Amino acid sequence: MNSTSLNTLSDQILEAIRRRPSSHFAIDKLARKNRCEKSDIIFAVDLLRQAGYEIESDKEGRIRFVSAPDLLLAAEITNRLKTKVIGRKVYAYKSVQSTNTIASQLADAKAPEGSIVVAESQTKGRGRLGREWHSPVGTGIYLSIILYPKIDPVKAPGLSVMTAVSLAETIAAYKPKTVHIKWPNDCLVNGRKVAGILTELSAEIGHTNYVVVGVGINVNQRRRDFPKEISRRATSLRAELRQEIHRVEFLQKFLTNFEKDYRRFKKSGLKNLRKQFLQYSNLIGKKVNLDMSGNIISGRAIDIDQNGGLVMETPGGIQTFNAGEVTVMKKPRRL
Ligand code: BTN
Repeated sequence: MNSTSLNTLSDQILEAIRRRPSSHFAIDKLARKNRCEKSDIIFAVDLLRQAGYEIESDKEGRIRFVSAPDLLLAAEITNRLKTKVIGRKVYAYKSVQSTNTIASQLADAKAPEGSIVVAESQTKGRGRLGREWHSPVGTGIYLSIILYPKIDPVKAPGLSVMTAVSLAETIAAYKPKTVHIKWPNDCLVNGRKVAGILTELSAEIGHTNYVVVGVGINVNQRRRDFPKEISRRATSLRAELRQEIHRVEFLQKFLTNFEKDYRRFKKSGLKNLRKQFLQYSNLIGKKVNLDMSGNIISGRAIDIDQNGGLVMETPGGIQTFNAGEVTVMKKPRRL
């Protein structure tokens, strides 16, 4: 479980040399400025190169920043990120069991609001309803966001709905043919799932201690990378857009949208976000089956309520549901 923050000297050098990418920096000057030996600078630059940064050296003992890797490193994520709270503190790992588990531990230890945990891979990524989240190395984004909203725990599902809106907005900016949210919070591109959300909370009656919003996004997987059992339902942004997506850039755009939507959520709950959710929803007006641990309810999906519950017109009247797996009923084929 390696944390992927580089050492402080590497971070400082990176910050200095990427600020002026066309300039050459003399190693002895950098050493004097950072009050260390030249060998410390050489070691710090080697660490950066090992992490994937391209840094040129010349015969005069000078270095120059060339390019950064598309890796979920703290320095990359925070570089030019304009948010005020979300993603200001980044805990970045190469591999973890689940970013949600780490985020809960950090929230227990009072990590600042908006801190994020990211990983290049997960060995026990969790999905909703006890499922596994396939988390291969380097191609997806596995992210958990730590929040301390002052809300009644019954309102927490609304944060999943809000997150789905932020995700859909971020994906829509890449202009795929279609983007949909499948209640409660799956994001579909061209009818297949590209992202899922797992919101977990620590709460007492009437009081939320913290919320961890876990987001898994299939970014650069190829079709053949998906396990057989999910390959018909799952896809990646790359597969649908037919182009590789810069993960750090996508993540920064998502964090920016999330911060804006979270501010609105804290102010007025789902009141203003509901309209956007309904625009992206692929269920409203349709006949659906809702599977609640084997108990199937059939009806027409008509709305979402202020807590993010699905409102359905059923034979027994209008009912609201807070959990379950929805499938749209197929229209009977004409003979
Ligand atoms: C789902 O659609 O079932 C929800 C999937 C959520 C997956 C993400 S990946 C980052 C975070 N850590 C986890 O273990 N799960 C969530």
